[in-house]
Amino acid sequence: MKGFNVVITPKIAAHEGTLSFFEKGKEIAFDIKRIYYIYDLPLGCRRGFHAHKELQQVLFCPWGRVDVILKDGKEQETIILDSPEKILVLEAGLWREFLSQKEGSILCVGASDIYKEDDYIRDYTQYIQWVNHEKNTI
Ligand code: TYD
Repeated sequence: MKGFNVVITPKIAAHEGTLSFFEKGKEIAFDIKRIYYIYDLPLGCRRGFHAHKELQQVLFCPWGRVDVILKDGKEQETIILDSPEKILVLEAGLWREFLSQKEGSILCVGASDIYKEDDYIRDYTQYIQWVNHEKNTI
């Protein structure tokens, strides 16, 4: 399935802890205009259930484990975010669902734009219509 990339960040490990990072032009291709994070995720809770028409995002889980289920209308893939060094770079247009696999997991997101509700598709039937008819016209 196209539209996503899992990258292991560069990291600097020391006895005092490990530092990871990613940069525009290297691991990601876009400017980050917004950062948000979802935390206190209960075990087994599901979120997401939407696609973005234009927003690009980078997702990572600095603590815990979050499974990201991606759908493009034809195929499905599950990306397991279970390490701070692993980032998921998402192009626009994929349906995503999040499943917390550990109590208290944290999901961090860097986004290419500010919050715009009209960039969301929150209904899966509408998503399928959009994928089949409109996606490539934007
Ligand atoms: P949403 O993106 O639907 O979260 P999830 O897919 O993880 O369930 O956002 C949840 C609510 O928070 C929704 O009412 C929109 C609001 N929100 C903002 O106001 N600003 C933001 O940057 C984000 C990501 C969400």
